Amino acid sequence: MWIPATLISVLACLLIMHFLKQCWSHKNYPPGPLRLPLIGSIWRIIPNFSQDTFIKLAKQYGNIYTIWAGSLPVVVLSGIETVKEGVVKHSEYFDERPETPFFKALGNENGIGLSNGHTWKQQRKFAILILRKLGLGKKGIEHKIEEEAHQLVETFARAKGQPLDPSSPVSNSVTNVICSLIFGQRFSLKDEEFIKLKDALWNIIQFSMTFFQLLYDTLPWLMKHLPGPHKKVFASRDFISSFARKEVEKHKTHRSLVEPQDFIDYYLLQIEKSKKDPDSSYNEENLSQCICDLFAAGTETITHILLWALVLMANHPDIQEKVQKEIDEVLGSSKSFSYQNWKKLPYTSAVIHEIQRFKYILLFGVPRQCSKDVNIMGFLIPEGAIVIPDARCVLFDPKHWETPQEFNPNNFLDKDGKFVEKEEFLLFGAGARTCIGQQLARIELFIFFISLLRSFTFKPPEGVKKINEEPVLLLVTFPHPYTVCAVPRSTGSS
Ligand code: HEM
Repeated sequence: MWIPATLISVLACLLIMHFLKQCWSHKNYPPGPLRLPLIGSIWRIIPNFSQDTFIKLAKQYGNIYTIWAGSLPVVVLSGIETVKEGVVKHSEYFDERPETPFFKALGNENGIGLSNGHTWKQQRKFAILILRKLGLGKKGIEHKIEEEAHQLVETFARAKGQPLDPSSPVSNSVTNVICSLIFGQRFSLKDEEFIKLKDALWNIIQFSMTFFQLLYDTLPWLMKHLPGPHKKVFASRDFISSFARKEVEKHKTHRSLVEPQDFIDYYLLQIEKSKKDPDSSYNEENLSQCICDLFAAGTETITHILLWALVLMANHPDIQEKVQKEIDEVLGSSKSFSYQNWKKLPYTSAVIHEIQRFKYILLFGVPRQCSKDVNIMGFLIPEGAIVIPDARCVLFDPKHWETPQEFNPNNFLDKDGKFVEKEEFLLFGAGARTCIGQQLARIELFIFFISLLRSFTFKPPEGVKKINEEPVLLLVTFPHPYTVCAVPRSTGSS
């Protein structure tokens, strides 16, 4: 009996010594919650996880701290100065996405959002160029958004002020903006493929950042062979890719080489142009993944911000009234308006920004991976560490916002009521991997928001004092399903 007992004791001692040696070699890493063998400091994160968990950790450990996901260090950068010092000043070491098994399986290291190195640089640069060519910043894209906003107003009008669930109509309109840009066409809301496409995207969003993703990243070799929600996610990814490929085939037959009309046209042209370039990453696999990336990044974000906008307008009638007054005074009854009008609408612009700050739709920033040992603020961030620029912490930092925990448009207004852009509005990330859809997002939110508030006053259904503002916490944070009354306005343009 004593032999196995001694063996176990010796093994345990060796393991503990190995663990302590590791802890000692990591003494220069940023501080953080106690690291335990095997589970790291996850014990501090998972129970009672809330959207404020990271804010509380920053209060305790400072603006740079380490959480151990098992044996992998995850360094969180909080506070605008720390984020800038990391992902802006040392951008070259922090511009990679983590190559976790789940990300690898999802993105195949292609496209923009999950790729790295040469592929990422080339695909990102080219996508930005195409978005510009398609009219970003000019009237081209605005017309498409106006068309979708008009459809949305008509759908809401059909409810005649009775309670309606806005989630499907809003998501349909926003998804169709991206469809117009990528495929050059919008889809009928009854189109079964379109419905499946939206469901597929939703399956992926729902899975990301859950326990099962963590499990997949920890035991990929096992999970690949087991049934579970990850199988549904990969089936969804395959559906989106095959949808994209079918659209690419259609474009190959019908496209105009002289006048490219949409993202796919431009990309196919680029594949041809760069056929002889050995460094070219332009090919149909990358095209298909770019389509998935633009789709995922450009639909769920805007949809959920607009859904939050309706909740906040219904719950804050005083703010809603002020927005409508400003819109009526500046735009009058003229039907058309453009994004350029934002400068004449400081209060409305402040409200649109405050909605995005107060109901920040990501749990934190999008993770990066450190590509080389680097010293930041006196701490060592080791090569391979995951780095999270914690935008939520910056967006709620009392140093920068008048009332961070309150919905208050004054956060974006100066004492004369003029709109002020703030560096701390870190919504779109920072450094070399900032969001490429920032301008599109701003235009979309402006046109949708103004179109809706010109046409309707939003109210909670009768008998409901306030619509629930508690978020559902996934990769994106969004409102619980709700109904709202869109009461037609006599002064609206519709
Ligand atoms: C208000 C809406 C949006 C928000 C809050 C948002 C936020 C973000 C954030 C935080 C990142 C990661 C940046 C980083 O790593 O520092 C990102 C990346 C990205 N976004 Fe957006 N985004 C929005 C809308 C859009 C739209 C409309 C598009 C589509 C054109 C888009 C396309 C992308 C792409 C392709 C990336 C990956 C960039 C890269 O890895 O190089 N986003 N976005």
